[in-house]
Amino acid sequence: MEKTFLMIKPDGVQRNLIGNIVEKFEAKGFKLVGAKLMQISDSLAEKHYGEHKERPFFGELVEFITSGPVFAMVWEGEDVIKTGRTMMGETDPKEALPGTIRGDFGLTIGKNVIHGSDSPESAEREINLFFNQDELVTYTKQDSTWIY
Ligand code: GTP
Ligand code: MG
Repeated sequence: MEKTFLMIKPDGVQRNLIGNIVEKFEAKGFKLVGAKLMQISDSLAEKHYGEHKERPFFGELVEFITSGPVFAMVWEGEDVIKTGRTMMGETDPKEALPGTIRGDFGLTIGKNVIHGSDSPESAEREINLFFNQDELVTYTKQDSTWIY
């Protein structure tokens, strides 16, 4: 089953949005298979955001994501990568629709509350960057007859 990497950024953690965001993914029917509160090092941040290295805001990006704890998660389900992105909303909170996480909670493009993998390749890369295999749990949920 498909997996994605989602991360509540330092603004979301500081604003007490962990529970609210986890609830949305649980209610949707996805399965949580790994989660941890963590402080990202500069080197992990630079690897994670490697594709943006040449962008003018790269320094700001690394500084912000390392500025306080983040809540890293792996969620599983059919098309969870694409659906997760839809639930997050557009990158810029000004464009994100109400009802999406960034539409409801995001303030600026830099402080947009949540990160989510954008493709199967980035999901695999990011999951391996943030989690060891033994931190991911394989299990069956009681409601799997109804959802996945
Ligand atoms: P992520 O899920 O966080 O990767 O967001 P995304 O895939 O919707 O956007 P993208 O990968 O293009 O950019 C990564 C992050 O860089 C965004 O979530 C923003 O927080 C930040 N970002 C993008 N553009 C800008 C910008 O112009 N200025 C600043 N300060 N940050 C930006
Ligand atoms: Mg991205």
